[in-house]
Amino acid sequence: MTGSATDSQILLFEIAWEVANKVGGIYTVIKTKVPVTVAEYGDRYTLIGPLSYKTAHMEVEPIDDAAIESIPMRNTLASLRSRGIKYMYGRWLTDGNPLVLLFDVGSAHHRMNEWKSDLWNVAGIPSPPDDFETNEAIVFGYLVAWFLGEIKHSHDMLASSESTKPHIIAHFHEWLAGVALVLLRKRNFDIATIFTTHATLLGRYLCAGDVDFYNNLKFFDVDAEAGKRGIYHRYCIERAATHCADVFTTVSHITAYEAEWLLKRKPDGVLPNGLNVVKFSALHEFQNLHAKSKEKIHEFVRGHFYGHLDFELDNTVYFFTAGRYEYRNKGADMFIESLARLNHRLKSAGSKTTVVAFIIMPAKSHSYTVEALKGQAVMKQLRDTVQDIQDHIGKRLFESAARGKMPTDAKAVIVEEDLVQLKRRIFALKRDSLPPVVTHNLVDDAKDPILNQIRNVRLFNDQSDRVKIVFHPEFLNSNNPVLPMDYEEFVRGCHLGVFPSYYEPWGYTPGECTVMGVPSITTNLSGFGCFMEEMISVPSDYGIYIVDRRMKSVEESCDQLASYMEEFCNKSRRQRINQRNRTERLSDLLDWKRMGLDYVKARWVALRRKFPEYAAALQRQQELEESGEINSDDDEEVAARLARQNRSTIPEGELGHGYESDGNPMTREDLSNLKYNSKVPRPASIPGSPKLFKSFAYDEGDEEEKRIASNANPAGLFYDAGPDGYDE
Ligand code: UDP
Ligand code: G6P
Ligand code: GLC
Repeated sequence: MTGSATDSQILLFEIAWEVANKVGGIYTVIKTKVPVTVAEYGDRYTLIGPLSYKTAHMEVEPIDDAAIESIPMRNTLASLRSRGIKYMYGRWLTDGNPLVLLFDVGSAHHRMNEWKSDLWNVAGIPSPPDDFETNEAIVFGYLVAWFLGEIKHSHDMLASSESTKPHIIAHFHEWLAGVALVLLRKRNFDIATIFTTHATLLGRYLCAGDVDFYNNLKFFDVDAEAGKRGIYHRYCIERAATHCADVFTTVSHITAYEAEWLLKRKPDGVLPNGLNVVKFSALHEFQNLHAKSKEKIHEFVRGHFYGHLDFELDNTVYFFTAGRYEYRNKGADMFIESLARLNHRLKSAGSKTTVVAFIIMPAKSHSYTVEALKGQAVMKQLRDTVQDIQDHIGKRLFESAARGKMPTDAKAVIVEEDLVQLKRRIFALKRDSLPPVVTHNLVDDAKDPILNQIRNVRLFNDQSDRVKIVFHPEFLNSNNPVLPMDYEEFVRGCHLGVFPSYYEPWGYTPGECTVMGVPSITTNLSGFGCFMEEMISVPSDYGIYIVDRRMKSVEESCDQLASYMEEFCNKSRRQRINQRNRTERLSDLLDWKRMGLDYVKARWVALRRKFPEYAAALQRQQELEESGEINSDDDEEVAARLARQNRSTIPEGELGHGYESDGNPMTREDLSNLKYNSKVPRPASIPGSPKLFKSFAYDEGDEEEKRIASNANPAGLFYDAGPDGYDE
């Protein structure tokens, strides 16, 4: 290929079920990654997802068909519309404002059976009639493939010459978006594809059962296991997408191992998850936010524990776990067991500290319990009464002072009537029962695993308990009558996040704690935990505690978790404040400005595999342009240059692998040796992101921090050469 090849000929589509549609962590991946992707691609980047009429109007600002600037897009959408397909095209109301296209899957339901039999004919993928999720995934997949085919055609028709035709990269996430990828391959479309899996279906199902998953990965008869669980057809979609993609990636090395055994393809690389880190201009703003948010949690606790508030709120720490309700996978079982052990230890030690442990995991419920609502109501009445009395007192003081007189005695200021009101409120605080461990009426109260575990360990919020439990079986939001806080605000107000997962390909929740300066506990079976273990020599120094769930027995892991929590309870306020400062400093490690580079590489490899001539021409052209250091402050310029710089670091020939694997069955030892080591050097500095650990700053007054600064190996902390998915 000759002529000047440019980046502007590349169009990027990113397809996921969670685009502008919140379910779990994939939504967080897609949404937080937008700013760096938009910085690189601008309006050449479009996200594609399903249209949920319930939420879309809050997520997307639609663009009228007539106002669509891109002619190929306008034509393509007009063509789909004329065939009865409904969609919403517009800008996602999130940082970066990317273009987004949401398909109303229901508008194509009438073609479902035709498409399902086509999928069987072209790809041998079966689909039973009654699996709603799979049906949706299939219809969505056919719509996406239809759209991509048309848009490619539309661009090609408008191109003035062969060399100005665009090159399309389509990046698909998770099996729910996998059908289109299989179709692109089967129809031989000229589109480079990437498939990123955020878990494997079998992994999630097997771990949720009673299986020693990690020791048996090599033995699973995958088809039979999928069949037994009624997910064979879903597994087929996942496996087909994995094998049809030009580039296959996962979010962590532990999931890369898993994918190799369960999906039968060695991932080409690992793309760890980042976050869009927003720095406050005032260094300690996040500490002030903690204090403010904690005050709101105090409010809730006063109400919930009314009549039993014999513990000092000033000496209370808030722990929490949160996520989708996967009892074993998310480690809710281990959390509760360890809380019971912690309770015992604190009681035996005569500790004055109280722990209130929250479990935020949505379960089917009817509504809030009367007790939960009453708690907040009686506290509100008490507050109102005290406010009234305060007003009365003020008025009397003023009247008397205005006449030049001091009040004669206290009774002249607080009159009997006020005291009676106050007494009434205090009597209303009496209760016969213990403060409830759950805030809602659960549909399946008797069988609920969390409630049953709480019953087993008898953590009933007794007065003598130093550990209290509040199970809130609904995601948080600020319109809630009982705990009116957004998730982020709640996390900020807590002291420690506890996420002892057994199955967790990445695990955003502890990472989100980190960037908010909240210490957390994770495990070495989570992608995030392994990543942190690899990046930092002593993670606990930075408020990242990692429970060993690989080499230890369940019993030992529970004890370790209890010890971490106990150690935390014994910290002074000053130590907690210092630790939060250190935790927050890790944020840059998780910033997409850094993590996004692995996506850049994956796209480049996909281009090179699908369009080798174009990629070579592009590289030649860019090498000519490349001159010296990156010194621009302009985001787009920096992103574009970084993208090029990163491409050139990928070795020629076959793409390397993101994790060490000798092709032999994995053992426990292999697992403990998982490394993010990379032979591909990273740029020494990343513009826009400070060289965090090279100029390691510490608090002069804090001895613990001084020790860390002198012991730690700052160069090792700042990872010049990792984490990277592409070593050979
Ligand atoms: N989350 C939330 N509200 C809550 C609890 C959790 O929005 O009350 C979000 C959390 O911020 C995180 C996501 O849910 O981004 C969970 O992602 P994670 O990767 O931890 O787990 P997944 O659900 O994807 O397995
Ligand atoms: C922040 C605030 C301090 C407050 C502290 C409480 O650091 O800036 O004013 O004293 O939080 O910390 P604690 O760990 O006790 O909630
Ligand atoms: C999946 C995984 C979770 C991960 C998320 C985003 O839902 O369960 O561990 O953080 O995807 O990659």
